Amino acid sequence: MKSIKKICCIGAGYVGGPTMAVIADKCSRINVNVVDINEERIAAWNCNNYEKLPVYEPGLKDILKRCRNRNLFFSNEIEKNIADSDMIFISVNTPTKTKGIGAGQASNLKWIEACARQIGKYAKGKTIVVEKSTLPVKTAKTIKSILQSFSKIDDENKIFHILSNPEFLAEGTAINDLEKPDRVLIGGEDQEAIDSLKEIYLNWINEEKILTTDLWSSELSKLIANAFLAQRVSSINSISALCESTQANINEVAKAIGMDTRIGKYFLKSGPGFGGSCFKKDILNLIYICNHYGLDQVATYWENVITINNWQQQRITQIIVNKMFGNVDGKKISILGFAFKANTNDTRESPAIKICNDLIEEGCFLSIYDPEVDIKQITLDLDQKPVNDKLILQNSSCWEYASTIQDSALNSDAIVILSDWDNFYDLDFENLINIMRKPSWIFDTRNVVDISKAIKYGFNVWSLGNGNIN
Ligand code: NAD
Ligand code: UGA
Repeated sequence: MKSIKKICCIGAGYVGGPTMAVIADKCSRINVNVVDINEERIAAWNCNNYEKLPVYEPGLKDILKRCRNRNLFFSNEIEKNIADSDMIFISVNTPTKTKGIGAGQASNLKWIEACARQIGKYAKGKTIVVEKSTLPVKTAKTIKSILQSFSKIDDENKIFHILSNPEFLAEGTAINDLEKPDRVLIGGEDQEAIDSLKEIYLNWINEEKILTTDLWSSELSKLIANAFLAQRVSSINSISALCESTQANINEVAKAIGMDTRIGKYFLKSGPGFGGSCFKKDILNLIYICNHYGLDQVATYWENVITINNWQQQRITQIIVNKMFGNVDGKKISILGFAFKANTNDTRESPAIKICNDLIEEGCFLSIYDPEVDIKQITLDLDQKPVNDKLILQNSSCWEYASTIQDSALNSDAIVILSDWDNFYDLDFENLINIMRKPSWIFDTRNVVDISKAIKYGFNVWSLGNGNIN
C-alpha cells in the first residue's frame, strides 16, 4: 500500500478549505496543498487577518494558526501541485445546470471535467484521485475515461485510481463534523488505493466508522443522505402550518415524535425552509437521475420536498403582510439573520433572499443585520444596492445594511428573525420596544424568542408553528 506524503486539493471552498485544514492538523507528516483558480479566494485564505478568511467556521482559525505554512498551503499553483502529489482531492463546485439539456435539475459537471483534464495532463506516475465534491452516480466513469485517455496518449506510466469519498460536513459545525464524523465513506475498485485513503483517516477516526464500498453506492449515498435530511425538514415544516391551524405547537410535536428512537430527534426543527448550497441542488439532481432511468413516480415523490420548501418561504411573507394589516408599503422591517443558518457566512439558497425580495416587492424598507454576512454579499443576493442616505429612508422598496440589532430595529414596525444566531435568543425587549414604532411586531421563524416575555413587554408575536398565539 502506498503511504501518502503529499496531497493536492482542487477547490478552496467551504469543503476544500476546512477538510484539508483538518487533514493537515491531524496528519502533520502529510503535506497538504489547497489550490484554486480564484486568486482572491486564495489571497483571503493566506491573509494574516483571520477575520477575513473566506469561510467563517467556528474552530477553523485555530487550526489555520497551527498548520498554515507548516504543512498546509493555499496557492494558485494548480499544475505544479498536481504534478507533485500522490493523492488529489477534487472539491470543486457542482451547481445545477442553468441552460441546455437538464437545465434546472442536472448538475453542471464542467468544473469536474476541467479538473480531470488538468490531472490527466499534469499528474505523474501513480496517482489516486478522490471525488470529494457531491456528484451524480456514475461520474467516476466519466473521470476515469478522461484520465485514461491521457495515460494512453501521453505517458503509459501514468496510472490513476479513482475513489469516491463524499463529504458529510454541515456548515457552522464543519470542524466538529470533520473531527468526529458519524462515518467516513470510501467507494472504490482498487483495494490498495482505498487503504491509502483509509490510512489517512485512521490518524483520528476509529476503524469501525470508516465504511468502504463500491464507487456507485458511495456516490449515490451522498445524494440520498442529503435528500433524506431535506425531506425531514420539509416534513416538519409542512406540519408547522397544520399546528398553526389547530392550536398545536410544533416544538411539542417535534419533541414527542423525536423521542421515538425509530424517528430520532435530529432535523425536526421547523424554520423558514431549508437553504444552503446543496439540499436543493442534490434533490434536483436526484430527480433528474430518476427521470433519466424512467422512474417518474420516484422523481415526483422527491419533487414534493422542494415544493413544500418553496411554499414555506412564500407563506412566511404572506403571514407577515397579513398580520401587518395587509400592507407593508412604506413600513420599515428589521431582518435579523441573512445566512441560511447560524454560524456561517454562507448565503447560498438562503430563505432570507426570497423572503427579503418578496417584502421589498411589497414596498417595504428593510434593515438587514447578520453577524457574519457582509454588505457586498447581500447586495449581490438581492441584486439591488442598499440606500445610505437617511433622508430617503422613508422610501419604499429598498434596504439598508445594519451593523447592530439596535440599528436594524430603530423606528421599525417589525422584527423578522430568519436565522438562529445565538444573540437572537436573548433580545433586549425592553430597549427594542422603546425604539420601535407601535404596534411593534416580532415574527419568529426559528422559535428563538421567549414569547411570554416579549408579549409582556408589549410586542405582538407570531411564532412559526405555534397555534396558541398565531
Ligand atoms: P465552493 O463554491 O465554496 O468552492 C469550490 C471552489 O472550487 C471555488 O473556490 C472555485 O473557484 C474552485 N474551482 C472550480 N473549478 C476549479 C478548477 N478547475 N480548478 C481549481 N479550482 C476550481 O463549493 P463548496 O461549498 O466547497 O462545495 C464543493 C463541493 O462539495 C460541491 O460538490 C458540494 O455539493 C459539495 N459539498 C458541499 C458542502 C458544503 O457544506 N458546502 C458539504 C458537503 C459537500
Ligand atoms: C447539509 C447536510 O447536513 C450535510 O450533511 C451535507 O454535507 C451538506 O448539506 C452538503 O452536502 O452541503 P448544511 O446545508 O451545511 O449541511 O446545513 P444543515 O445543518 O443541514 O442545514 C440545511 C438547512 O436546513 C438550513 O437552512 C437549516 O436551517 C435547515 N434546517 C436544518 C432546518 O430548518 N431544520 C432542521 O432541523 C435542520
